[in-house]
Amino acid sequence: MQDTATTPPNDTLRSLLDGRLILVTGKGGTGKTTYAAVLAILSAARGKRTLLLEMDNQRPSLTPIFGREPVYTPANVLPRLDICNLTWEQALQDFIGSLVPSRRVVGLALQNKMVTRFLDFVPGSQEIVTLSALGHHVKPTDGAPAYDVIVADMPASGHAFSLLDITRSALGLFRSGPVRTRATELRAMLREASTKVALVALPEEMVVNETIETAERLRKYDLLSSPPAVFVNRATLPTLSDDERKLLERLGQAELDPLQREFVRAGTWEDELEQGTSESAVRLREALEVEPVLVPPGPPGGDLKETVKAVAVHLGRQVGVGRRDLPWT
Ligand SMILES: Nc1ncnc2c1ncn2[C@@H]1O[C@H](COP(=O)(O)OP(=O)(O)O)[C@@H](O)[C@H]1O
Ligand SMILES: [Mg+2]
Repeated sequence: MQDTATTPPNDTLRSLLDGRLILVTGKGGTGKTTYAAVLAILSAARGKRTLLLEMDNQRPSLTPIFGREPVYTPANVLPRLDICNLTWEQALQDFIGSLVPSRRVVGLALQNKMVTRFLDFVPGSQEIVTLSALGHHVKPTDGAPAYDVIVADMPASGHAFSLLDITRSALGLFRSGPVRTRATELRAMLREASTKVALVALPEEMVVNETIETAERLRKYDLLSSPPAVFVNRATLPTLSDDERKLLERLGQAELDPLQREFVRAGTWEDELEQGTSESAVRLREALEVEPVLVPPGPPGGDLKETVKAVAVHLGRQVGVGRRDLPWT
């Protein structure tokens, strides 16, 4: 708990965790799964019943983190934390089940070629089915919600955007009928103040460009009521003072022996990384009008579970969750 006292609270992070539905996306490989898992773990540690879900993954990426494979039906992995995988076939079965109340008819409909064709050829119907399954956890039609918070590990930003945008474009495609009704409900769910998007970025120009583009598209199509939060993952936090930076510059031009030159090179490299992070943060702050949350690299080696632990400890401090409140660190 000591470490929480010295770390300033982070309003962006707190407001994100106060959301009811938290959608995590970003460019491929930036850390989406890591941050979805961390947000879900912190949410559960803050006392909320939390569901972490991934969207129809053939090889679910949550498996190495929690030591069990997520399936369609949520399963408990830590106190107050369940995980699941929104597999397509079961999502479809539930969707049809919500339209026709008879189990037998659902079975027949799933065997019917027309139904499968409809889903193959009608643009957007697959997305609506997937989002419906997500929406069902947020607002079940058959009782009180089982979770206070739902965190979705979404696909990469381009695909995630199409998925969310279907709630708008379907309204143009379907003039009436159940898909239109569902799209309208899902659009309302996305536009609730309690629905939040978290974008995961890296301090690299191309990734920052794509992050800004995603945020601008979400804004342009009016898909959300609040701007997304943004994480700059693998950020090099500032450590060098202006004086040290000036010294490095002077030493760069001085006559040095090879060992001294190595030290200067290491310092210059650190300086470049710090500047890369700070430029990325400035661009994101200006474009998104939110304070980016900077997170340093975790342990090297790419072990997802170890990364999740390190990021959870780092971010936990900023919302009053200490290491001891985190079940497996
Ligand atoms: N801050 C970090 N420090 C060290 N490794 C990281 C960090 N963030 C992510 N990684 C590693 O990068 C890889 C990709 O992360 P992941 O969360 O699976 O990304 P995505 O879901 O966007 O594909 C994983 O091996 C993970 O352990
Ligand atoms: Mg992933």
